[in-house]
Amino acid sequence: MLLVTGGCGFIGSAFVLEWLRHSDEPLVNLDLLTYAGHLGNLAGVAEHPAYRFVRGDIADADLVGRLLAEHRPRAVVHFAAESHVDRSIAGPLAFVQTNVLGTARLLQATLAYWESLQQPEARSFRFLNVSTDEVYGSLEPDEAPFAETRQYEPNSPYSASKAAADHMVRAWFHTYGLPGLTTHCSNNYGPRQFPEKLIPLVIHNAIKGLPLPVYGDGQQVRDWLHVNDHCSAIRAVLERGAPGETYNIGGRSERTNLTVVNTICSALDTLRPRADGRGYAGQITHVEDRRGHDRRYAIDDRKIAAQLDWGPATHFDTGIRDTVKWYLGNAAWVESVTSGSYRQWIEQQYPTPRGA
Ligand code: NAD
Ligand code: DAU
Repeated sequence: MLLVTGGCGFIGSAFVLEWLRHSDEPLVNLDLLTYAGHLGNLAGVAEHPAYRFVRGDIADADLVGRLLAEHRPRAVVHFAAESHVDRSIAGPLAFVQTNVLGTARLLQATLAYWESLQQPEARSFRFLNVSTDEVYGSLEPDEAPFAETRQYEPNSPYSASKAAADHMVRAWFHTYGLPGLTTHCSNNYGPRQFPEKLIPLVIHNAIKGLPLPVYGDGQQVRDWLHVNDHCSAIRAVLERGAPGETYNIGGRSERTNLTVVNTICSALDTLRPRADGRGYAGQITHVEDRRGHDRRYAIDDRKIAAQLDWGPATHFDTGIRDTVKWYLGNAAWVESVTSGSYRQWIEQQYPTPRGA
């Protein structure tokens, strides 16, 4: 069985849903249900016989120890994190608490469990650390994409906290032998992403008639990957990856932010035209840039392609259209996650736009 952390978030829930669709192997989901975690994301599997949800903190080593001893998993798949860069700029310590300390405590509890295993279980055990491409820093426009050998240069409190977690996974492997692996994925998109992130925020604001906030000149570049492709890469690393190794995962879909926003606007123009007949792109508003904003991320995925036979299956244009459709068809989900503290965050983050 698997112990998954952060399974109620965007990527974790996609992983859990996909896992239970394809496998009978039981899965325990440990999630604290922060503002980013929603039980409704997994409502469809809540009663699944192979699924169990436990509300709790990865930093609670006693709880994690009890769960490991009771369920005896063959792997821990670690998604739980504070994940939003802007929030890390507004309040970095929550990121240190969860991403650094939380991961350290999770590692310690996992190490104690792993050391109690006999062979062959100890040899086949895996700790899969779901990290990000942001730990590598920022690329120049014509620079080669990030390879696994790239030096770490985290620029935001978020990426620094993820880098710290990665270093510990590496150290726990080298020092204690704990079979850890780390993945570095690019920007994900798809259903159930919290509308603080660019793509769901733009879809949400567009249909509400609100400004579409583009930071600075909007020429920053991200490499977009459909969340289901990220999950298939994680399954490949879990089953075929080598302990101690790291794997970069990308979508081969570099786009400027402005292009992404315009693509969403075009999809909405067809799928739900504005009542006044104008295009949604008219709602685009350039706002103050993010502090320390990384200019470009891009992934060299040759290692995972060659060694684990993995590649992205979803083309960005199809994936983004399906994602827009999902948000249009799931207004109740959007309403439920954007109530309460969401408003507070949006008001703090997006004060009156420049020139308004
Ligand atoms: P998310 O913010 O949507 O979800 C995070 C989940 O972790 C939530 O369910 C939350 O309740 C839970 N959580 C937070 N703190 C916890 C704690 N202390 N104990 C237990 N659970 C806790 O995040 P996401 O976008 O799904 O990202 C998942 C992972 O993937 C993160 O580690 C992130 O760094 C990484 N990642 C994300 C992306 C992306 O584009 N979203 C890309 C690459 C890597
Ligand atoms: O690269 C992987 C990372 O991608 C993950 O590790 C993070 O968890 C995830 O949040 C994401 O980080 P980004 O900062 O790249 O994603 P975000 O959706 O916040 O922003 C994407 C780009 O859009 C970025 O250049 C900032 C810009 N942006 C974002 C928001 C929210 C805007 O221009 N306007 C906005 O309102």
